[in-house]
Amino acid sequence: MFLVSRSAFFWVKGRKIFALSSVVALGANIICNKIPGLAPRQRAICQSRPDAIIVIGEGAQMGINECQYQFRFGRWNCSALGEKTVFGQELRVGSREAAFTYAITAAGVAHAVTAACSQGNLSNCGCDREKQGYYNQAEGWKWGGCSADVRYGIDFSRRFVDAREIKKNARRLMNLHNNEAGRKVLEDRMKLECKCHGVSGSCTTKTCWTTLPKFREVGHLLKEKYNAAVQVEVVRASRLRQPTFLRVKQLHSYQKPMETDLVYIEKSPNYCEEDAATGSVGTQGRLCNRTSPGADGCDTMCCGRGYNTHQYTKVWQCNCKFHWCCYVRCSTCSERTEVFTCK
Ligand SMILES: *[C@@H]1O[C@H](CO)[C@@H](O)[C@H](O)[C@H]1NC(C)=O
Ligand SMILES: *[C@@H]1O[C@H](CO)[C@@H](O)[C@H](O)[C@H]1NC(C)=O
Ligand SMILES: *[C@@H]1O[C@H](CO)[C@@H](O)[C@H](O)[C@H]1NC(C)=O
Repeated sequence: MFLVSRSAFFWVKGRKIFALSSVVALGANIICNKIPGLAPRQRAICQSRPDAIIVIGEGAQMGINECQYQFRFGRWNCSALGEKTVFGQELRVGSREAAFTYAITAAGVAHAVTAACSQGNLSNCGCDREKQGYYNQAEGWKWGGCSADVRYGIDFSRRFVDAREIKKNARRLMNLHNNEAGRKVLEDRMKLECKCHGVSGSCTTKTCWTTLPKFREVGHLLKEKYNAAVQVEVVRASRLRQPTFLRVKQLHSYQKPMETDLVYIEKSPNYCEEDAATGSVGTQGRLCNRTSPGADGCDTMCCGRGYNTHQYTKVWQCNCKFHWCCYVRCSTCSERTEVFTCK
């Protein structure tokens, strides 16, 4: 029940329901009603901007892919049991893992929308026109080229991704904070690129523009934020005792978390066993490394349950020599290899 627009197909329960080319042919109404798991406000945005929904799907998928890359050696590998949405499966526990998935998808959507704007793929946006033509007096260069309009992408992500938070509970505050943290990390990593003009690159004039960082860089930074994630608790301040803001959970602390902190309200499960209540898929069948002292080591990965050994022979061409003239002769090398999977 989610859309995989990277391959430009929308899928519902493993069935391909329509290809991207038919998105244009079908009305926006039909498409947006067929995408499951959208909040009402998201459905409205989808209907008014059917071109953007494709890019949003790509951005969310980029976030999920990056999450899987960053956690490929962990017990939790970015998989979850639970309802599938445009943003992948959602974790039920308000853990630091949930914090990471929200931050990376919000950043992914902002990144994809900004990139699509720069390439002229979306209506209503383009390059950052506010910068166009201005002179940077202090540093002696001129804004030129196409500056990525990251504020548009961030604003779009805010309107679309944040619109799924419809319940007025603590988790909503946590999710919104982490969405914003992901977008802030992206914004802080925007780069300046410059080009010199003049006789043989003499740099008599210089034009510069802003570009998006590689998404991998955002992934690494958010992984560091995940390692340093901050536990928070909710403060119910209004007359109706509704969750109003978050503060760092420490004795005698009235501090609010920092803007770019990832925050969580519940301790993580250990992700050892499959458990529908926490959304854990467990580590049974996961590949592990027998000699690694890290998280991918069999002891840690398999939670002490032990592992199975699979032996196979790897065969490849080796010692290739070039003979005059003209053929290459190789020998065949082989090696017995083992892989280990958790019981
Ligand atoms: C923009 O559209 C072109 C052509 O459809 C596509 O190849 C490219 O990947 C798109 N770029 C982005 C950032 O979506
Ligand atoms: C994550 O682990 C689960 C459980 O072993 C496995 O089914 C799934 O394919 C893994 N996902 C990735 C992206 O490696
Ligand atoms: C297993 O871990 C060891 C120690 O960290 C490392 O040297 C080795 O390359 C790893 N093996 C595989 C197959 O990843």
